[in-house]
Amino acid sequence: MKLFVYHTPESTPEDSLPDCAVVIDVLRATTTIATALNAGAEAVQAFKDIDELMTVSSQWLPQKRLRAGERGGAKVDGFDLGNSPLDCTPEVVQHKRLFLTTTNGTRALERVQSASVLITAAFVNCQAAVNYLLEKEPSTVWLVGSGWQGGYSLEDTACAGAIAHSLVSKIDYQVANDEVIAAIALYTQWQDRMLEMFEQSTHGQRLLKLDCHRDLEYCAQSNILDVLPIQNEAKVLIKS
Ligand code: MLT
Repeated sequence: MKLFVYHTPESTPEDSLPDCAVVIDVLRATTTIATALNAGAEAVQAFKDIDELMTVSSQWLPQKRLRAGERGGAKVDGFDLGNSPLDCTPEVVQHKRLFLTTTNGTRALERVQSASVLITAAFVNCQAAVNYLLEKEPSTVWLVGSGWQGGYSLEDTACAGAIAHSLVSKIDYQVANDEVIAAIALYTQWQDRMLEMFEQSTHGQRLLKLDCHRDLEYCAQSNILDVLPIQNEAKVLIKS
């Protein structure tokens, strides 16, 4: 397995695609996607663009859909939900499709949507991603952080490091770029203080200003969900 880490969608190569792309947006899109599917959502369909989301979701019965998303971390006006994983309880999401738009996570999904396989990961479910990679052994894997508007995010690269670190001892893999080593180093430095890292990160600070400390606490938990979101059609994620 050739393993690459990219800190942001913008830093991924434009002229190639991996056998498996793992999109990571710990705060909070991929945590929310895992939580919604674990709670019984039918699927999560991701959109970069709010107008496109409105057009596509309008074709669904209101009782079968939820419009969810944020801009700058805050809920989009008129939507059913923001982007908090804590809102994705079975009572709210079961049997419904979440139409989700976020500032960065949905852009990262779009960037690698043509990869042979696309899965998503966050700390809450990263072991499920590791198990998938160990079982399928795709020959090229990209761990893609979502970052923030083109810049790098500590928490996404730390999660990529957690996945790479779990693979190290168990599989014959080739470190294909230096970002893999950097991600593992970042993860091992903070692994027992993930919440503290989130509180110091720029997006963590942004969410704290929006009164989202409970979101940070939730997103910092490791492997509380045994669910692996996998793309089954362009930008539609289902529970595998
Ligand atoms: C994003 O996609 O940028 C994030 O998920 C933003 C957020 O925290 O809601």
